[in-house]
Amino acid sequence: MKSNQVLFVMGVSGVGKSTIGKLLADSMQIPFFDGDDYHPEKNVAKMASGLALNDDDRQGWLETLNALAKKQLENNSCVIVCSALKESYRTVLTTGIECHAKWIFLSGSFQKIVDRINNREGHFMKSELLQSQFDILEEPENSIKIDIRLAPKNIVEEIKTALMEKTQFGLFGLGVMGKSLSRNLANNGFKISVFNRHLAGLEENVALDFTNKFDELETALPFDEIESFVNSLERPRKIMLMINAGKIIDSVIEDLLPFLQEGDVLIDGGNSNYNKTKERFEYLKAKKIHFVGAGVSGGEEGALKGPSIMPGGAKESYVQVQPFLEAIAAKDENNLPCCTYIGTEGSGHFVKMVHNGIEYVEMQLLAEVFVTLKALGNNPDAIATILESWKETTNSYLLEITIAILRKKENGGWLIDKIMDKAGNKGTGNWTTISTAQLGVPSTMIASALFSRYSSFYKEERIAASKHIETATANLEITKEDLLKTYQFARIMNHYQGFKLIQEASKSYQWGLNLSELSRIWTNGCIIKSDLMVALVEIFKTTDNLLTDPKIMQQINSLKPTARKVVAQGILNDLPIPSLTEALSFLNSFAVANSSANMIQAQRDYFGAHTYQRTDDASGKFHHTEWI
Ligand code: 6PG
Repeated sequence: MKSNQVLFVMGVSGVGKSTIGKLLADSMQIPFFDGDDYHPEKNVAKMASGLALNDDDRQGWLETLNALAKKQLENNSCVIVCSALKESYRTVLTTGIECHAKWIFLSGSFQKIVDRINNREGHFMKSELLQSQFDILEEPENSIKIDIRLAPKNIVEEIKTALMEKTQFGLFGLGVMGKSLSRNLANNGFKISVFNRHLAGLEENVALDFTNKFDELETALPFDEIESFVNSLERPRKIMLMINAGKIIDSVIEDLLPFLQEGDVLIDGGNSNYNKTKERFEYLKAKKIHFVGAGVSGGEEGALKGPSIMPGGAKESYVQVQPFLEAIAAKDENNLPCCTYIGTEGSGHFVKMVHNGIEYVEMQLLAEVFVTLKALGNNPDAIATILESWKETTNSYLLEITIAILRKKENGGWLIDKIMDKAGNKGTGNWTTISTAQLGVPSTMIASALFSRYSSFYKEERIAASKHIETATANLEITKEDLLKTYQFARIMNHYQGFKLIQEASKSYQWGLNLSELSRIWTNGCIIKSDLMVALVEIFKTTDNLLTDPKIMQQINSLKPTARKVVAQGILNDLPIPSLTEALSFLNSFAVANSSANMIQAQRDYFGAHTYQRTDDASGKFHHTEWI
């Protein structure tokens, strides 16, 4: 049925429905149908005998009009006039064509209508009858409401203008994130169009039901058909895709392309792979369509109240969507939006990917803190109390939700104790680990957090192994203060490694990323917002390398002895704390002037003549030795 529409003109008797409906249909050159012509004979007879119709009498008639509307939609738009005073009547009239129905409500005062009827030659209507219509009238929520005091010609013009009114921004895909972002846009005063696919029996009228549910979406236009969705947007169109990352993005782009025009902007707000974003950017550039790959962080609540947004692509594309993205983004402590132009190509999705890598580690560290405090004999409530006290110096969104999780009870027991210890993932940690390996950057904690999730998944094998592998029984000689210091130490190392990966990628791809600005947009709205992130905004103004900052070095030096003790105690007690351990282990292999890699080089040269550089040859030349 493409983008055809049924324009239902409704209102009480005498409001001028037929006149307006006919004029409108003529001026739009579409068929006109008067609902009254479709009553079955028994209804006509009943009315002729002066009796009013009841809801049972109306049911079949409304179904006939619904069938008429559906038939018309197959070929054309049309106008149908019908009093349709109750919501239940309108539901019958639009069943199965909800996204194609537009309601035009002709509204006038009781007196105006009485006068009008009585002035019509040969017409007379009892005022009680009209009053009864006013009594049952339920005004439609999403309609074009027109005051009948206007001249008919003007009424038709007003309806046509309202029908043509374009929206400013389109949201494609009404999953959890898409819905929250739509409401956020509407709450910021933007007129939007929202789209969700129609999947018979599975996803029906999603857009319409959604816009009907929330007051702020009163002016939002719902669609389940792509062409009319695209056409409802003012040009250049701005459409944000909030759909699952993967091949589906390409097929949606193909579905949209026939209706897009030069200069339109598509934004992919999902967790797409940055390499794919680069390909899509190039593909659409050739078609003169802008493509912005935007990382969006903050989950459902962030999307609704203000997420952190990381848009990448061409600067001129970003400028077009900037007012929308910046308005809906979270605000930092200076009230600046947590949204900034990141850089070209897939840089927005790259930094979102690393954000998630850092997120994986932050989560893993808290999981290890939990396991350690448990081993010290604390129950979840006691652990929550300890973590609560950490907020003063080391607060973060993830710390806060961990405390709330620990306190959650179900049927008198702690919910955390009932949650299966098999961690899921959607792929971004995997990609970050692949990228860090590809770029040759040692972001080892991200890999360790990822592999912890993977190990957790082998539940049955773990249970079997736990029966045969002996565990240590030494005493865990650490305090909660020791653990806090170790946690702080590991978090610094995590942020060092994460930002290092971003900085190296920026060099390799020539993205010119600004680490201070990046940490600024991660101070609010996103999952890894924390007090540490706020401190990094200033630190990154003077250096791109955390391990050169005097304040960070001083913190590392003061925390490291305790971290060493905790990790050692953890190992002596067979505690599963791989990421806390890796933080220390990494630093021990990195902050050394002379590493063990001389042995690796010698071995490589020995068996494969791969050559090596010499410490006593400043030229950097490569040497080979005949070892035997
Ligand atoms: C965010 C989150 C969000 C999502 C991740 C979780 O910043 O809002 O990172 O994007 O929660 O997809 O990924 P996993 O399922 O891999 O843990």
